[in-house]
Amino acid sequence: MSTALPITPDYDAWPIEAHLEAVSFSPRLVTVRWSDGRESRYHSVWLRENAADDSTVNPATRERILDLSVLSAWPEVSAAEIDEAGALCITFSPEDRHLRFHPGWLRAHDYDNANDPEAPLVPVTTWLGGSDAGPDTLDAGGLLDTQPASEAEEAVLAPALESVLGKGLVRLRNLPTEPDSIASLARRIGPVRPTNFGQLFDVKAKPDPDSNAYTSIALPPHVDLPTREYHPGLQMLYCLENSVEGGEAVMMDGFAIAEALRDRHPEAWETLTRVRWCYANTARTTDYVWFEPMIRLDARGELLEVRIADFLRGPLQTAFEDVEPAYEALMTLQRLLRDPAFAIRFTYHPGDVVIFDNRRLLHARDAFEGSTGHRWLQGCYMERDEVRSRYRMVQRARRRRRLTAEAP
Ligand SMILES: [Fe+2]
Repeated sequence: MSTALPITPDYDAWPIEAHLEAVSFSPRLVTVRWSDGRESRYHSVWLRENAADDSTVNPATRERILDLSVLSAWPEVSAAEIDEAGALCITFSPEDRHLRFHPGWLRAHDYDNANDPEAPLVPVTTWLGGSDAGPDTLDAGGLLDTQPASEAEEAVLAPALESVLGKGLVRLRNLPTEPDSIASLARRIGPVRPTNFGQLFDVKAKPDPDSNAYTSIALPPHVDLPTREYHPGLQMLYCLENSVEGGEAVMMDGFAIAEALRDRHPEAWETLTRVRWCYANTARTTDYVWFEPMIRLDARGELLEVRIADFLRGPLQTAFEDVEPAYEALMTLQRLLRDPAFAIRFTYHPGDVVIFDNRRLLHARDAFEGSTGHRWLQGCYMERDEVRSRYRMVQRARRRRRLTAEAP
């Protein structure tokens, strides 16, 4: 009998929060009791497909290779025990296959767990602005000199990702001001999402602009690229130069504004979560068009995204009777967008970057006077998935360190 715990069907580290004390079973159900008194139940079919052996999971990739439907019958339990390593050992029939399960993994994946597996990694907290409000700000001097995936990198990256996941926004300061440093920063999180504006885009006034962003005029609060089937979940704006007068940045939490709309103007909320607006970015060589409600909820009824960008709205084409209510609701929303209580304002300094959830936050800027100096931001997009994956990797590294520290 093995004295080592079995591998798990993933690459993660699973600390043992409680030990298995007792097991009972019927053909289709295994019930275990843990050392803290809790009971967990697992269906035989669920256990069979979540085994970690090489008939179930490709050991090279830890991806499943078992197709349950090729088993000759529904997998049932013919024996169950806890071995001396503390693993759950199950014999499955009709295969007559003995499989071992890691108690830390089992406990973490008990589907009766009170904690919701679909809950956000970091609780979402909406925020207001106002004159003394500012973004969460971290000193990132030296971040780009740290070893990737090191504890030194994590010391800045972990709180930064937490702010992005929870509040939709973080500002890092004291980064290098060499062009394209943003690419090095982005790589610390994940791959960038290229668009028709490139991998990286330069936000500065330029001749023959293909977006209002590339002029010196004021930009109203907006998300970028609502003209896409899914607009990028993350945007970074990295300041390389800023010596102009004006051009102050404005940011607001689109989720806070949506909540205010729901609370104060429920009929406008109902309309904006239902009527599909047209979003269009038709330039000389590209033609992006998408239709979606301005406020969208996920399958759980939580806010998923906002698509607010007046200069990227195409002509509304909806049911005749929805047209006036839609404009009524739009103007109600626009009045909220002008309320300074929602806005934080700040000036970019060279070496600053703001990283924000582009499907949640609205960004805007004042007009600036190009003849007074230079304003040069570089930007890029990414997906929310990259932030979540990177944050999970931080959590995994922390668990692994904890396991190592606890090892006898
Ligand atoms: Fe923008």
